[in-house]
Amino acid sequence: MPLVATPRAQVSLPEPPAAEARMQALLEAIVDGVVSIDARGRILSFNPAAERMFGYRKEELLGQSVNILMPADYAAKHDSYIANYLNTGVKKIIGIGREVIGLRKDGSTFPMDLSVAEARVVGERIFVGVLRDISARKIAEQELERSHDILAKTVAELEAKNEEIRAMTQQLWQAAKLASVGELAASMAHELNNPLATVSLRIESVLSRTQADDPRRKQLTVIDQEIKRMGDLVGNLLQFARRGGDQISTVEIRDELACAVDLINHHLRKRMITIVQDLAPDTPAIYADRQKLRQVFLNVLTNAGDAMPRGGTLTLRTSPTTLDDGEPGIRIAFTDTGFGIPDELLPRIMEPFFTTKEEGKGTGLGLAICRRIVQEHRGTISIQSTPDHGTTVCIDLPVKNRGNVKPLNEVCCDSDDPG
Ligand SMILES: Nc1ncnc2c1ncn2[C@@H]1O[C@H](COP(=O)(O)OP(=O)(O)OP(=O)(O)O)[C@@H](O)[C@H]1O
Ligand SMILES: [Mg+2]
Repeated sequence: MPLVATPRAQVSLPEPPAAEARMQALLEAIVDGVVSIDARGRILSFNPAAERMFGYRKEELLGQSVNILMPADYAAKHDSYIANYLNTGVKKIIGIGREVIGLRKDGSTFPMDLSVAEARVVGERIFVGVLRDISARKIAEQELERSHDILAKTVAELEAKNEEIRAMTQQLWQAAKLASVGELAASMAHELNNPLATVSLRIESVLSRTQADDPRRKQLTVIDQEIKRMGDLVGNLLQFARRGGDQISTVEIRDELACAVDLINHHLRKRMITIVQDLAPDTPAIYADRQKLRQVFLNVLTNAGDAMPRGGTLTLRTSPTTLDDGEPGIRIAFTDTGFGIPDELLPRIMEPFFTTKEEGKGTGLGLAICRRIVQEHRGTISIQSTPDHGTTVCIDLPVKNRGNVKPLNEVCCDSDDPG
């Protein structure tokens, strides 16, 4: 078959008018805005999508500067972009694309993605910009950001709640421990009290019939002392387990502190402990169970004394304070210069039976009882300590007012009128 060369124009390339028409159709159909400009920034073409985007008709824009499509601050820079590019060849948008702001005919603005390509048409440089309105995407992004913020806030709130629940669980666990210790204490005390009393009486009777020089007397005395110590422990346990039955009266804190110091003075002086009493003269009276309060003071004073085996200073201070519920209160602070409490032990010292004292010296119930008594009086007890420097125990109690009587719910022994 003879090979016959077919002229190019006849085979596949469309006639120029057909190509132009096809290009026109393409520009009209395309969903992105397409704007072409010449090297001086004048608009050469503007497709229907761009018309819809900006609210202009093509005829209004052809030959106009493209700056009309951007807010003033962009427009000012745009001319220098083109000039710079034409001078230096450095591309800032061309072939890269970026997010810019478009200005509609009605003066409103909108965000759009712009990508610019450069072309040469019949020897002339033109720039073709393809534009996409991204308002919807921006709104979605902002929504997403807002949802993120809400989510982050919710997570933070959840974490805080979680922390609260953890703290409450810890408190419940502590309360459960105390409750079971209380039950155990009550039944132990019940079981031990009678036999102890019997043994104690018998020993006393045997001792009274034993001659002073009898060699068995020493052993009997030891037994007697140990029985008394067991009696103290049982007494403490009973105190710890017991609730109610308070004997409420008006108590002058200053008098009560002086009384407690008197009771323990001998023990403190033996250890060469100086007592400083810094008690405000207007220290108010409170409603309290005098015996129980004395027990609290005595235990705190004994602990301070035990913490200063080689002497030191024990300062008692009273000052006005405000309780957690906003009520006026009185703070009684006991500060010693003893050996202090190691940080790791501090959270445990109010647990029942926690003691660091040598066997036979402490039951470890003192502070647990103190805390219960102080709480029964609607107060709080807190302890700060610096190892090797000393410890401060603060007891905050509500000052005398009608409200204090209610929770204790008992008869006033004093004749004065509550409140
Ligand atoms: N002022 C203080 N300085 C140093 N440690 C203290 C002080 N007060 C309390 N502690 C520590 O707290 C522990 C518990 O005290 P708590 O009064 O409950 O029991 P205890 O004194 O050991 O025994 P009990 O009071 O039954 O005789 C003490 O063993 C001691 O380790
Ligand atoms: Mg104690």
